[in-house]
Amino acid sequence: MQVIFVGAGPGDPELLTVRAARLLQSCHCCIYAGSLISPQVLALLPATATRYDSAGMTLEQIVQVYRQAQAQDMDVVRLHSGDPSIYGAIREQMRALDALGIAYQVVPGVSAFQAAAAALRTELTAPETSQTVILTRAAGRTPVPEEQALERLAAARATLCLFLSVQQLEALAPTLAAEYGSDCPAAAVYRASWPEERIVRGTLGTIAAQVAAEGIGRTALLVVGRALDRGGPASRLYDAGFSHGYRQAEG
Ligand SMILES: C[S@@+](CC[C@H](N)C(=O)[O-])C[C@H]1O[C@@H](n2cnc3c(N)ncnc32)[C@H](O)[C@@H]1O
Repeated sequence: MQVIFVGAGPGDPELLTVRAARLLQSCHCCIYAGSLISPQVLALLPATATRYDSAGMTLEQIVQVYRQAQAQDMDVVRLHSGDPSIYGAIREQMRALDALGIAYQVVPGVSAFQAAAAALRTELTAPETSQTVILTRAAGRTPVPEEQALERLAAARATLCLFLSVQQLEALAPTLAAEYGSDCPAAAVYRASWPEERIVRGTLGTIAAQVAAEGIGRTALLVVGRALDRGGPASRLYDAGFSHGYRQAEG
């Protein structure tokens, strides 16, 4: 018996890994991360599979399901949205499984930041503009270490992907604008890859009002940075005058 932490991807079942789809289709017991898992992904579970929505469960209740499954020698699919390694709260589950001597493995998934970049049809890195992508969140009821406060991260002017933060956008935007400039591109992607997906594009000066006007209050990924501009220098990778290990410069 084992617990398999499976990345459900952002929502579209076609963005599941082949392994995740196979595990879901043959699953007997699944604990899934509430409304972050799309109905289309859950529809892959056999009708006979036992399902638990972890949104209403405590860690102890989740661990109790693992114990019962251990007693029945039945695998459990623990379905997390996106990739389980990002804000998945899998650490404490793994700790409990270690204590119980239950084996586990992880199947990665497409994270919301990747799905948002695809929805925006953008590259998150840009030559000479941003060679760094920061995955982070605003402090809320979950505190963020002071040295990772947004105003400090913003000083790097890297591309920022903000999870779990859209509700604080009104306060965040001016903080970020102080470093990035209020004309810096910013976007919100609501439910990337879901049929309900919505994209809001603006600048740090406009995005908060735009997102409020759209009524987007949760399950959105914010992307901020000048890499979102189509302009700027091109990568040298395909530059005809640039040689590298696989190609000689022309002329
Ligand atoms: C608890 S975190 C889980 C992140 C997940 N592990 C991942 O890799 O995408 C939930 C947050 O992820 C973001 N998120 C998850 N799914 C999303 C989607 N389909 N579109 C946009 N944002 C999403 C939102 O910021 C949401 O508040």
